[in-house]
Amino acid sequence: MSGATTVAPEGRAPADAAAPAPAPASTRAAAPLLAVAGLCGGAGASTLAFLAARHAAREGDRPVLVADTGGPSGGLAACARVAVARSLPRAAAAIAAHEPLGAGLFAEAGGGLRVMASAPEPPLDVAADAAARVLGDARGAHRLTVVDCGVPGGALSAQVLEVATHVAWVLPATLGGARRARRTLELFAPRPDRRELVVARHDAAGATAPTAMLKELAAERRAPLLLVPHVPDLAEQPPDAALELAGEALDALVAEVLR
Ligand SMILES: Nc1ncnc2c1ncn2[C@@H]1O[C@H](COP(=O)(O)OP(=O)(O)O)[C@@H](O)[C@H]1O
Ligand SMILES: [Mg+2]
Repeated sequence: MSGATTVAPEGRAPADAAAPAPAPASTRAAAPLLAVAGLCGGAGASTLAFLAARHAAREGDRPVLVADTGGPSGGLAACARVAVARSLPRAAAAIAAHEPLGAGLFAEAGGGLRVMASAPEPPLDVAADAAARVLGDARGAHRLTVVDCGVPGGALSAQVLEVATHVAWVLPATLGGARRARRTLELFAPRPDRRELVVARHDAAGATAPTAMLKELAAERRAPLLLVPHVPDLAEQPPDAALELAGEALDALVAEVLR
């Protein structure tokens, strides 16, 4: 796959029909929350979440936050090459325990980007209201909040998907990736108050999925399809080359979320 391609969704609802439902008072006027969710293990969710947030932070006068839902992967911290002591679930747990949060809630990654991601840690159950408060505060303080949900399975990722204004479903653009993605997507019904994007990223390790198959997958979600070319591993190389290579897809993604 060379270069990124954006494919418009077919039969997409007009903008008004897809407008988010009125938000509760605590989140009204809050900025967008983009949930990035993998549709199989190693789909590329952490890579995309970091690149999208870094790309979005290039413009605008308010910072962009990228966070993850914690747990043993530590994937976002590896992509960002920074880690904070308290992940999103641990910040929520501190709130629930009435502990002072203090400083260091996120790392300043430069260029208007903040990162809330920790090194691999044991999973943690979080009180829903405390998690809602962290997410609400994050949205209130940032032009865009991006949350890497990994393959959504736990309560926190379900909660992020519940309040997200946008969801980017990520899959490897392989035959196997597309087949697995279709089965996983059956668990998550599309919702009229949440825009979706389907992001298929190049994967040299498998047989490439025909573009028609990926288009069909996106059309079933009434979502645009974004094709992301091969990018270097962010855990191994600084993100500059990846940002350049994926620039076209990132432009389309960020435009969709921030428009
Ligand atoms: N666009 C891409 N091109 C090539 N490799 C990619 C791409 N996106 C992700 N990868 C690779 O796939 C692997 C898994 O990526 P990661 O973002 O950690 O996935 P996830 O968070 O879904 O588990 C990593 O080795 C990463 O470098
Ligand atoms: Mg990950």
